[in-house]
Amino acid sequence: MSIFRDDILAGKTALITGGGTGICKGIALRFAAHGANVAITSRKQQNLDTAADEIGFATNKKILAIAADVRKPEEVENVVAKTVETFGGIDILVSGAAGNFPVPISQLSYNGFRTVVDIDLQGTFNVSKACFPHLLAAAEKHRNANVICISATLQYTGIPFQSHVSAAKAGIDAFMRTMATEWGPMGIRANCVAPGPIGDTEGMRRLAPTPELTERAMKHVPLKRFGTIEEIADACLFLVSDAARYTTGTIHVVDGGQWLFSPGVGGFEL
Ligand code: HXC
Repeated sequence: MSIFRDDILAGKTALITGGGTGICKGIALRFAAHGANVAITSRKQQNLDTAADEIGFATNKKILAIAADVRKPEEVENVVAKTVETFGGIDILVSGAAGNFPVPISQLSYNGFRTVVDIDLQGTFNVSKACFPHLLAAAEKHRNANVICISATLQYTGIPFQSHVSAAKAGIDAFMRTMATEWGPMGIRANCVAPGPIGDTEGMRRLAPTPELTERAMKHVPLKRFGTIEEIADACLFLVSDAARYTTGTIHVVDGGQWLFSPGVGGFEL
């Protein structure tokens, strides 16, 4: 059930990286359900095929599913070219492909740090750059082309065992702001959506893998629950819609107030 009109993305094409699973699959479903042509990409063709079948069945639309590693520019360019070939352009990019594993800095290998920064930050640059000519062509038609980068909130404070992701996501926030200023005059908006703890995601399975850790994490959310994938998808839908046509360069936090909360020196619990 959505509060948005079901045709608000009719005639638009969205490319969604990381769209084979989790939050980005939910965004793909939401966008297709509101009329968009959707292309999804991630490394595993099997995940993509399953997601495309599921979304296609739910929305009666053909979903394009092409495997690519966002770290590899030639694979990214191939996905972009096939999306344009199939749907005639790209109006919306959602850059969501990401990697994470909790590990202390002292035990994080050089390659481990680089891997996460490469997937999250370099990957966001790679897809943004490859999509730019098509976003520009779309903006010349309707002045509402969009990039949404999926960020996070853990980089606002110091979260142990998350140095690689925090550095990468802070980089994404900075990159998005520059993109918004450079591409705004051309009619391309750029914003981040920053999810907090979202239930039924690979991220939370990695960060809170036991019922005890889940319960403890939930205590620190003022809204007293984890978010849903649909709530992140709704935020993305709002940002790419005409309702947000004067919004660019922002970070839209969807975290139930989680990152703001601190028990303070008294250790107060909510
Ligand atoms: C320590 C680890 C590790 C671990 C991998 N590495 N897992 N180090 N602890 N658990 C190290 C490896 O040893 C290696 O370094 C380097 O990282 C690269 O690992 P590979 O497995 O070769 O990389 P690759 O196959 O490219 O896989 C990428 C990955 C993997 C990030 C490591 O976990 C992955 O594919 N993840 C995708 C799914 C995912 O993470 N989803 C969650 C996103 S959540 P050496 O030195 O040995 O060569 C998210 C949101 C965050 O992003 C915010 C939440 C609130």
